[in-house]
Amino acid sequence: MENILAPSILSANFADMASDFRILEKGGVKWLHVDVMDGLFVPNISLGLTVISSIRKATDMFFDVHLMIVDPIRYIDEFAKAGADLISFHLEATENADAVIDKIRATGKKVGIVIKPKTPTEILLPYVEKVDDIMIMSVEPGFGGQSYIPGSTKRIAEVKAMAMEKNPECLIEVDGGVTFANIPEITGAGANVLVAGSAVYKGDIAANLLKFKEVFPGCLAE
Ligand code: DX5
Ligand code: ZN
Repeated sequence: MENILAPSILSANFADMASDFRILEKGGVKWLHVDVMDGLFVPNISLGLTVISSIRKATDMFFDVHLMIVDPIRYIDEFAKAGADLISFHLEATENADAVIDKIRATGKKVGIVIKPKTPTEILLPYVEKVDDIMIMSVEPGFGGQSYIPGSTKRIAEVKAMAMEKNPECLIEVDGGVTFANIPEITGAGANVLVAGSAVYKGDIAANLLKFKEVFPGCLAE
């Protein structure tokens, strides 16, 4: 399965995102991870529809939109219109995940589901066949720059096993605390899409991307 690095917009320079995008594109970045926080589902507020519509015009990267909002069904159409390519929502944020999945499907966008670190992986089971991407949070959602929770690796392996049985094409994405040091462990457990904020943006972005290429082969376009 294709490896993909999805730099998180949360660590970007919000005053000059276009310059960041040029560096990411030049380095071969295929996906941009866009973290949307409502101050309710998580104790932080990030960005919303207006920002996504504006940056949509500034880059052709695939927009991996991570909704950390309560009752995501209310805004699916709007995020699709704003320019999302994949819309992922938290199973903890809705009472009716099937309805949210159907709503995203109806927009023609790719569908993703996400679970927080303390949510049992079994709750994913009824949805594994219905989605394109399953994302496992390896930090408590809300903030960039946190440390990877070690127990996440076992959870990634559990989810990969579920996907292999029911939906082998499903992307397995990991979000939070990804570093050059823990990538072998995370990909070894079965993840093929890695979100990275700090590891991409801390220091020199172009140099960091070259390091990603070494430890996570194929994650960037040539
Ligand atoms: C956290 C966000 C992550 C975060 C990742 O709630 O979902 O995408 O920005 O940042 P790092 O890689 O710094 O943990
Ligand atoms: Zn995220």
